[in-house]
Amino acid sequence: MPLTPEQVRADIPLTAKYIYLDNCATTPVPKPVVDAMLEYFYEYCANVERGAYSIASLANERWDLARAKVAKLLLRCDPDELIFTRNTTEGICAFAYALEHPLLDRSGGTFREHEPIIKWEKGDVIAFSELEHHSNIMPWIRLARHVGAKIRVIPFNRETGQIEPSAVEEAVDEHTKLLAIQHVSNVTGTIHPVEEFVRIAKEANPDCLVLIDGSQGPGHMEVDVRRIGCDAYAFSGHKGPLGPQGSGGLFVRREFLERMEPMEIGGGTIADVTTSDYKLRGDALCKRWEAGTPSIACLIGLGRAAEYVANEIGLKRIEEREKSLTEQFIEGLMDIPGVEVYGETEDMSIKAGIVSFNIRGWDSHDVALALDSEFKPPILMRAGHHCAIPACRALGVYERYGGTVRASFHYYNTPEEVEAALRAIRKLAST
Ligand SMILES: Cc1ncc(COP(=O)(O)O)c(C=O)c1O
Repeated sequence: MPLTPEQVRADIPLTAKYIYLDNCATTPVPKPVVDAMLEYFYEYCANVERGAYSIASLANERWDLARAKVAKLLLRCDPDELIFTRNTTEGICAFAYALEHPLLDRSGGTFREHEPIIKWEKGDVIAFSELEHHSNIMPWIRLARHVGAKIRVIPFNRETGQIEPSAVEEAVDEHTKLLAIQHVSNVTGTIHPVEEFVRIAKEANPDCLVLIDGSQGPGHMEVDVRRIGCDAYAFSGHKGPLGPQGSGGLFVRREFLERMEPMEIGGGTIADVTTSDYKLRGDALCKRWEAGTPSIACLIGLGRAAEYVANEIGLKRIEEREKSLTEQFIEGLMDIPGVEVYGETEDMSIKAGIVSFNIRGWDSHDVALALDSEFKPPILMRAGHHCAIPACRALGVYERYGGTVRASFHYYNTPEEVEAALRAIRKLAST
């Protein structure tokens, strides 16, 4: 039997004290995930990839198992193609680094720079959308500066919050070497047709690489990176998957992983080292990119979290539940005079459990503060620019409201919580 929302709430003690509606920023970690981490700390706390003794082997086994679970359940990729990271931001930065620096490695007896993944030329273009999180903008501005590429920004539909395929089509051409684009917007909650974006980019230029910022995808819905067809997909473990902070992943297609320069090198990444050269490991490509001691407990926790969301609740159930809460919330908001709602308000098929709004006459931060301090239980929502200032400027809310107020749901949230939030917003809007 799948876990009910009530059972999940029982696993998340915070739900007894707060109405937590900020799952887009981070999620509370359920007890079974905490227990898996505690078990590591209490029963087999040893480093991985180093020790021969029994608990070191056990730690290694569980860490590898965690990778296998996350790869299979959250992304549907090979474990070898899944680099463990701290979060989405680290994954995107690591990928950007590899596009700037050719692989340096001993091969065929010589230590040399290999062919770069992208041979940057004058006139090359990096494309990303205006809706992106800063973590999927800044690394590309820096890369473009360093390699002399041009940036092309893909606009989004101000009404629906969608990045339309036609806008992607207009932005990509034979000069586009990279398309970096989100799966789900953390501002408008729009689920984008990323499969179509990949197809469009590859049709315009078969050598164009596509990175998907999947920060708001896995754990909230089924994700299949093979079906999407992207070259890289970065996500955070501490959001949809209900894993701990400090856990995340970056999928990179094997053919690129083999030829890409890791951002960090050192312990754990090598097959051999002399004082004048080194050979990177070839047995587990992902581990080339994981220099030094990883965040072992968090990653074992993420493996447990993947099972929890995918096997014990079910990703389809999570998606349906979030859509139904979102629909209820939007319907309620639309009935409150003085409230503006951003993004799609009718077609729930393109909407994740993320809703941005404002109350006219209120700064968004004041709304969030009032929801926390003036109501019992406190209602916790995010306010501000959500690390997406260009998107907030495009929506015209940055200067006017300091951004938006944002409610974001997960499976464990309830219709009663949504009602309580609506009552509170109605009260604030009437004062
Ligand atoms: C769309 C999007 N991209 C990237 C990020 C960055 O995620 P993290 O802080 O886990 O690196 C976020 C965080 O909210 C996000 O919503």
